[in-house]
Amino acid sequence: MFSKETLAGFNTRKTPFYYYDLKLLKETLSACKDAANEYGFQVHYAMKANFNERVLKCIQGFGFGADCVSGNEVKKAVEVGFPSNQVVFAGVGKSDDEIITALELNIYCFNVESVQELEIINDLAAGVGKRARVALRINPNVDAYTHHNITTGLEENKFGINQWELPACAEYLNRAQNIWLEGIHFHIGSQITNLTVFKSLCVRVNEIKLWFEERGFNLKILNVGGGLGVDYYHPDENKIADFKAYFEIFNQFLDRKPGQEVHFELGRALVAHCGTLISRVLYVKNGIKKHFLVLDAGMTELMRPALYQAYHKMENLSRNVELEQSIMKYDIVGPICESTDCFGKEVEIGTSFRGDLIAIRTAGAYGDVMSSRYNLREQLEPYYTE
Ligand code: LLP
Repeated sequence: MFSKETLAGFNTRKTPFYYYDLKLLKETLSACKDAANEYGFQVHYAMKANFNERVLKCIQGFGFGADCVSGNEVKKAVEVGFPSNQVVFAGVGKSDDEIITALELNIYCFNVESVQELEIINDLAAGVGKRARVALRINPNVDAYTHHNITTGLEENKFGINQWELPACAEYLNRAQNIWLEGIHFHIGSQITNLTVFKSLCVRVNEIKLWFEERGFNLKILNVGGGLGVDYYHPDENKIADFKAYFEIFNQFLDRKPGQEVHFELGRALVAHCGTLISRVLYVKNGIKKHFLVLDAGMTELMRPALYQAYHKMENLSRNVELEQSIMKYDIVGPICESTDCFGKEVEIGTSFRGDLIAIRTAGAYGDVMSSRYNLREQLEPYYTE
């Protein structure tokens, strides 16, 4: 929950806005770093989850690398201080300009998603007189048992190189002059809470790794992606994801040769809980069957509920539930002209009134970064406490 001082800060500001608890962010980063260090694992922060500059600087300060998915993310990572030899670049559709930008900045590695892309990177690297390090993103066909829209490692998904294309990749890598195979890369999905799926991933990584090693490739890195989920239902009880349990699975089930590095790309688990979307109730509409709270924040500020029916815990910060409120059920909606602009149906929350502050929790990952200007909405000014 929020301290009195933080609440006082909220009350002086124009809503809606994103609030970041940088102290919680640092505690989370430190927990992740300690757990990873125990096994000698390296973590690159998946910048797509949140590219707020202060958040990025904190993360960089803890020595994480950066996992980028656009030329602009690569440039931003380097700009805020991530050493370029700790920057990796993934994505199914890297443009020529983006590839050249990354080559010029001497990033560590490209996570390559097709044989066609290997050829383009090789040609562009030749053009600028460089040799690019690449990792092959391979589609492991492992089900992550998460929301359909955020599953990435099944054959029906657009991501990664299919296993039947590996001989063509190996053949090309053997003759390409301007690329160098650094390792293999996987990512099976996001918001994964059933950790046993990572065991299935390890089994598949071991098989594919062996396939390459039998063909004479020496893989320096095994990159197993991100995906560790967070508890959207209990943000106060489970503020920090269970990094130890997550890394322990890979430590136990991944075959590593001495000197072989294991890389991770965590996004959500690092930044989700430290962010909250703060908004105010504009109108309370009482219907016969339903009551609505109309907020000044909508799907333009936080798209996840409209896009994936994602749950975010909501709280009325202006009233004290225990002392003065009876619990009501409201459909909590935004002001946008779309029926899907709804943060939750039949949400149990204390009786609320115009002007009350409503916190939409666990919004630090895939929140502000996915916002849009639809309906010509205002750009938000974030608020921080250290
Ligand atoms: N690596 C790759 C290749 C990825 O595609 C992703 C996320 C990550 C790492 C980071 O995954 P994380 O640790 O955050 O789960 N907008 C959706 C999530 C999309 C995730 C896309 N890829 C949401 O709001 O739930």
